[in-house]
Order: sequence, then structure tokens, then C-alpha cells
Amino acid sequence: MAVERTHDVLIFGTGLAGLRAAVEIARRSEGKIDMGLVSKVQLMRAHSGAAEGGTAAVLYPEEGDSFDLHSWDTVKGSDFLADQDVIDRFVHLCPQELLLLDHWGIPWSRYEDGRIQQRPFGGHSYPRATMAADKTGFMEMQTLYDTLVQWKNFTRYDEVFATAILVEDGKFAGLASIDPFTGELLILRAKALIICSGGAGTLYGFTTYAQTVSGDGLAYAYRTGAIPLEDMEFLQFHPTGLVPSGILMTEGCRGEGGYLRNSEGERFLDKYAPEKMELAPRDIISRAMITEILEGRGIEGPGGLDHLWLDLTHLGADKINRRLPTIREVCMKFLGLDPILKPIPVRPVAHYSMGGIEADINGQTRVPNIWVAGEAACHSLHGANRLGTNSTAECLVWGFITGEEVCKFMETNPELPGLSEAAVQAEEKRLFEDMLQRDGTENPYDIRRELRATMDQHVGVYRDGEELAAGLEKVKALRQRFDNIKLEDRGRVYNTNLFHALEIENLLDLAQVMITGALARTESRGGHSRRDYTERDDDNWLKHTLAWKEGDGVKLDYSSVTITKWKPVERKY
Ligand code: FUM
Repeated sequence: MAVERTHDVLIFGTGLAGLRAAVEIARRSEGKIDMGLVSKVQLMRAHSGAAEGGTAAVLYPEEGDSFDLHSWDTVKGSDFLADQDVIDRFVHLCPQELLLLDHWGIPWSRYEDGRIQQRPFGGHSYPRATMAADKTGFMEMQTLYDTLVQWKNFTRYDEVFATAILVEDGKFAGLASIDPFTGELLILRAKALIICSGGAGTLYGFTTYAQTVSGDGLAYAYRTGAIPLEDMEFLQFHPTGLVPSGILMTEGCRGEGGYLRNSEGERFLDKYAPEKMELAPRDIISRAMITEILEGRGIEGPGGLDHLWLDLTHLGADKINRRLPTIREVCMKFLGLDPILKPIPVRPVAHYSMGGIEADINGQTRVPNIWVAGEAACHSLHGANRLGTNSTAECLVWGFITGEEVCKFMETNPELPGLSEAAVQAEEKRLFEDMLQRDGTENPYDIRRELRATMDQHVGVYRDGEELAAGLEKVKALRQRFDNIKLEDRGRVYNTNLFHALEIENLLDLAQVMITGALARTESRGGHSRRDYTERDDDNWLKHTLAWKEGDGVKLDYSSVTITKWKPVERKY
């Protein structure tokens, strides 16, 4: 028997975007709108807490920064695929978000004179990365949560595992989930849903993401059949993942003056991005690094993870200790290496999904009472390549916007949408009579390992048609094998074996979407770089990819890019 709970609004995912939306709803409604906050981890364990380097905003226009400059950097960084009206709104809202956090008590790093400090970041032509040393995401999360607890209008559903978004008669009707402590189906109903469940980066083996980030919200939105996923072929590789763990070595290292060197000790970026060097955008640096490695100027690493060097040794102990303390701590704990003294082994690492759940500029999806914010969303802000620090900023901005939009919606006194018993029973059957009882011959963890190896090998920094097609066949075969898995744990209480199986099913769907989109896009743009179609092709491909679920397959459709001010030109750094 399912247990049912009802709120005015549900927020699915409690990272930066989810918390910011919750704060906005709480303060606008003065605690009157009742919220359920659903997270499969403890609320403050969301992956946003791992964000390191900074949050972009124009804070000092009198010193040379401007909204136009931030917009242009983002448009150019996106390889002209971002929607320019969305960027314009974003850059104008970033400063207010950072100043609100300041009022709410965040410990921003500061200049000697007390003003908020900013540092350079890749692809930005002004140092506008606002930071709390290299713990920016954690401090932002902490500040938002501290602010939220002033109000009492929310219920935390910590460690509750969402399993499906239920849409009936074209409206959000409920979030199906499993209460881990009882093993019961928990149906959370509300008048509105905001999805803030993050990206899909654990599709890859070598990744900066926490293992909890399995694209659940994306897969559930896609499976409703009512909402497409947009631009999913654009997956960002961050240049500096620590080898072999993949832990993020923040771009702030290069913002503070760090160098990238090859096996010959050369700062090789002068061949690829002579003006910006280490502060070129991530897609360009990642390609340069893979090229260096493929041409034999990498250093042999464990498990085939050949690497280059991130050299901070010239920065000095004081700067590293003040601005990059996490980097030093992680290097020492994971490698026994002190970056004050020695360079750090790094290589490009899966880091961010530019694509996501299609939404309009207000974060509203095609289902009118579902909004989406943060990395789960594709508002078309980042296009084909995101600039560092625009992500935490996006979480704050669209947390604010969707919170505001939901408050406006609640003022219309919407009814609680109906939910049929048949839909609840179907979900209960799927979870507990099908998935939980699977007794086949396949180990789901083998399937996950093979899926990640497939993505690492076939859908990496460089791609080509043959590799992508072979990767798609492998993913399809893995999907078939997944039908024949065996769950070792048949218990109902805190069954992580079941949760992992559901996550793997989500990743399999998303891999199929991602590769199908990548195979179709016969050009190179931003993070999608094809060896068989090496040029950007604006005549045919200046458009967004929309992926719809059609049976077991993916149907592709396209939508136009909004260009207001800047016509596409050659992208050079
Ligand atoms: O390098 C970093 O600190 C990552 C920042 C980002 O992805 O925005």
C-alpha cells in the first residue's frame, strides 16, 4: 500500500538550485506556501557542495566589467548555440544573487579593502569569478540552508529515492518515491513541482561528479513523454581532473596563475589558444590536452589514464594556502603530493551536462505545473560549451526565477491535480513486482561498469560517426542485458541494491539519448567535436536538439536558437 503526502509545492533535489528556489518561495510567501524538499541524500550532501572555483557576476562595472562583456563571453563560449535572450536575463540577475548571499552571511573571499574579491576564469574576459576560497559551492549551500531554516514551511524528505514523475491529463500529479526506512511506496503530491536534481555525469567512469548524480530527474521527465531533453550531446569535459580519482582540480588553480605543462615541461597551450593560454574555455583546453597525449607528450598514468601536469609550484605557499586550500588538501590526502612543491597529474574529465530538461526562460517545461532549475535544466544558457562559474550562478538565478514563478502560480489558487489509483498501482508493480524481483543472470554493477567504459571510450572529447554508432550498439545491448539482472537484496528496508538498479536504468536511457543526438549532429561545435565533421556548420546545425521518448527508441526534433545581438563568427582565443 502506498503512503501519500501532500504539499503545495515539491522541490526534487536540494542542491544550490533547489535550496535557492525554496528560500525564494519561503520569503515571498512569508512561510505560507508549504513545501516538500526531496533528496536521495542528506540535504546538505547534494553535489553542489563540491563546486569549488566560483560564481560569475558583474560586480565592478566601474572598473571595466559590463553586462555586455559577460553576455558576449557566454555567447562566444557557447559556440553560438546559447539563446541570447536567456543570457541577457542571466547576466543581469547574477549580481543581485551574489549580493543576497552576502547579506545572508556567506564568507566571500575579500580584497584587503574589504570588497568582495573576484578572480579570472576560463573564457571570461574579466576576472568575475566570485569565490569563497575553493569551497564556493559548500559555502553557498550552507548560507542558503541557514537562511531557509528561518521559516518552518518545509518538510525534508532526506534519503527518499524518487522513482517517477507522474503526469496525468497533461499535469504534474505526483512524485513517486521509495521511503528507504520502510521500503514503502511514497506518493508525494503537490500543485507544482520544481526539478533541481542535477546532471548525468556518472554516465562516465572518469568523472568529477559524486556517485549520486545519476540523471534521475532527466530520465523521469523524459519518460513522461510530455517533455523533451534538449542538447544532450553536449557534455563538458573539464580539463583538470585529478588522476586517477577524477576529483576536480578547480579552474581557479589556473585563475590564480597555474600552468598546464606536457611531458617535456612545455606550456603547450601557446599552440592552441595563444592569447588566453590556460584561461581559454574548457572545450578548447580539453581538446588540446587530449591532442598532446595522443601525440606522445603525455605521461603514462595508472589504468590507461595518461596525464599532463597542472603546475602551481611557482604560486608559492601563501597563495595556495589562502586561495586553494581544498586543492592542497585533496592532493595530499589522495596522492601524498604537496602542490606547493610538485605539479599535479591531471587529464580531461566528465564534468557537466550542457543539455537537460527543456524549459523556457522562466524555467517552465511543457507540462505547465513543472519547472526546472540548475544543471537538470536546459534553458539554453550554455549552448555547446559552458563557461566555468556560470553554473553555480545559473543555479542561483533559476532557483530564484522558478521560486518566483511558482509563487505567482500559487496566487492563482490552483487545484491539486488528480492522480489515478491505476497510475500508483502501476508504479508499485513496476518497482516491487518487477525490478525488485529480478532474478536473472546479469550483475547490474557489471552493466554500470561497462556502460561507463563505453561512454569513456566512444563519447569522449573527440568523437566520430563510427565510434558513436558502435557505442550506441553497445548501449542498446546493455539495455537488453539489464532486463535480465539479478538483485541480490530482496528486502524492502534501505535497499540500495534496488536504488542502484533504478539509477542504472536511468543512465542507460540517458546514454541512448546522448549518443543518438551526437550521431545525428554532423558538425563540430563546443563540447561536441567530431573528427569526421571537423567544422562548425551553421547552415545546417545552428539549432537545438530535442530528444523525445518513442517506445524504446529516441525521436529527434530540433528548435531554433534565439540570436538577438551577436551573429555567429569564427571562435578564436
Ligand atoms: O573548476 C571549477 O571550479 C569548476 C567550476 C565550474 O564548473 O563552474
